[in-house]
Amino acid sequence: MKIILLGAPGAGKGTQAENISKKYNIPTISTGNMIRAAIHNGTELGKQAESLINAGKLVPDEVVIGMIRERLAEDDCNNGFILDGFPRTIPQAEALGKMGVEIDMALSIEVADEEIVKRMSGRRVCPACGMTYHVDFKPSTDNKHCDACQADLIIRKDDEPATVLDRLNTYHETTEPLKAFYGEQGKLVMVEGREELAETTKATFEAIEAFLK
Ligand code: AP5
Repeated sequence: MKIILLGAPGAGKGTQAENISKKYNIPTISTGNMIRAAIHNGTELGKQAESLINAGKLVPDEVVIGMIRERLAEDDCNNGFILDGFPRTIPQAEALGKMGVEIDMALSIEVADEEIVKRMSGRRVCPACGMTYHVDFKPSTDNKHCDACQADLIIRKDDEPATVLDRLNTYHETTEPLKAFYGEQGKLVMVEGREELAETTKATFEAIEAFLK
């Protein structure tokens, strides 16, 4: 099963990717997490990407395409994968096709912009293992430390309200056209990202099962 997750920043792609990965036992490949790991490790790519990501701008296509090409060649991708945050532009989607990757479905999680801004202000992330929480909707046990590895939770720099608005603009201009791109191929499925997390998870699984029948 090869799934692409589409949706605005903060729509819940990472959260649902985690659920899908557990249920179907396929890896999640998140370009955002890969870039943040590169920044954390001080690699050359990380140094180039840091100011872009913190300003809510996209990293150049050729950089992320190269990262994805290498990652998809790894053995754990043989039985399928979930792409979270890639492709984000039409050239990235075309590059995926040129790599010979035939995706099964593009699942778009739909959430209104006003709701996104509210959600991002409550997000907390683990800088060590990448787990995502929300102070109201998905709190860790003590709302301060990661349940998985006990590291101190932090607020992502690109979750500042002004940066979130820039990211939303970038999403509508550059990434949202991918819905038409995959819609024309009959691969687009849309799920409403409801405030109740469990309901969104249920709707996501129902959409996947219905599509794969
Ligand atoms: P990336 O990390 O991919 O960020 P994003 O797409 O903006 O998405 P987020 O991780 O912010 O949100 P999400 O949809 O995963 O939501 P989450 O599940 O966390 O990319 C970051 C940056 O990297 C980009 O801006 C760009 O610079 C660069 N980049 C990455 N990929 C790139 C590419 N392909 N090309 C170029 N540049 C690239 O949920 C959000 C919050 O809401 C959480 O707190 C969660 O607990 C909560 N929540 C989730 N679902 C619900 C629900 N149903 N109800 C209530 N709360 C919920």
